[in-house]
Amino acid sequence: MVDVAIIGHGVVGSGVAEIIINHNELISQKAKRQINLKYILDIRDFPDLPYSDKFIKDFDTILNDDDVRVVVETAGGATFAYDYVKACLLRGKSVVTSNKELVALKGAELLKIAQDKNINFLFEASVGGGIPVLRPIAQCLAANDLIEITGILNGTTNFILTKMIKENMQFDDALSMAQRLGYAERDPSADIDGHDAARKICILASLAFGKHIYPEQIKTDGIRGMLLSDVELASRMGYVVKLIGHSKVLGDKVSASVCPAVIPTGSVISNVEDVFNIIKVRGDAIGDVAFYGRGAGKLPTASAVVADVIDCVKHLAARKYLFWEDGDKDYVVDPDSVAYDYMIITSVANADALATLGCNTVEHNGSVAGIVEKTSKNDITTRLQKCGINDYRVFRVID
Ligand code: HSE
Repeated sequence: MVDVAIIGHGVVGSGVAEIIINHNELISQKAKRQINLKYILDIRDFPDLPYSDKFIKDFDTILNDDDVRVVVETAGGATFAYDYVKACLLRGKSVVTSNKELVALKGAELLKIAQDKNINFLFEASVGGGIPVLRPIAQCLAANDLIEITGILNGTTNFILTKMIKENMQFDDALSMAQRLGYAERDPSADIDGHDAARKICILASLAFGKHIYPEQIKTDGIRGMLLSDVELASRMGYVVKLIGHSKVLGDKVSASVCPAVIPTGSVISNVEDVFNIIKVRGDAIGDVAFYGRGAGKLPTASAVVADVIDCVKHLAARKYLFWEDGDKDYVVDPDSVAYDYMIITSVANADALATLGCNTVEHNGSVAGIVEKTSKNDITTRLQKCGINDYRVFRVID
């Protein structure tokens, strides 16, 4: 029998407890050992739950119990969660987490401890909720030199943009609807300002390219205040606006960003709507491969956590595949200095000036848009300013 503990009985933690208890025979069979949920650490009491006897308030009970070989961290944040996870790993306990903030900030350090201790630190649920993506990147695509990752990594912003594109809703109305439906938090900053997606592209790119990328190295623009007129103009030009996490290998460095981008209608990514996520990975042998599904939710996310628990129990004395090294300050280049295609949107009064940049322009409702090919955003900014254009929005073209 293997004892398991859960730290944090919130949405995901309670889902993990329910799955371990309700599917105990099935998951124990798959792990080839009896899995026993021994402790749940939470500051709150849950007296009405059928498993209320498992709740504890002292972390040391878990740490000092040598029968607890696997610890699930679903508390969130990178303060207490970091201390607890690190302490458990140092004690030789494998750890499973859904905590993207922790992995994005401390992944390299925690993976190194797990390597030194010959135990596992797994976090499939930290990106894409229940969508299997980290394990396929690390295992199934292992024969590839991976070169690019592109994704819709945040369901809340995809829901908001879908409402703007399909139902002509203004940004604020779509955000209120997302909050009413429970997708967006009361403080929606982490989603709409792109920080949630930035943490996820950090994890994906670190794993795919082998060196840690930290959130502060990711150029991050969100969709706060996105103009409906820009979304409409992009649609007229045959594009949809999506919040995209992107990272690409450039020699021995990478570019990495989160930004609102325009995607050609008809491409796989353009058709991903509502709260759905997609992660497209490009490898030198396989070409493009995509992973699609619901990127959040209690049971989908908990199912990915429990699958990692099963993996840990099956490999108590062996290291699994996940690893990346620490990165360095110069590893990530500024994406605004890299040549990409861009859509520029400005006031119709600037149409002639925009055309001098080599754009074919389209006008709608007082705005004009054009595409500039293979030019860096920094160059575009300089050229627009030379033309006297100061009110403009720039969207990277990604397919
Ligand atoms: N707030 C996130 C999203 C949930 O909207 O995708 C999972 O990270």
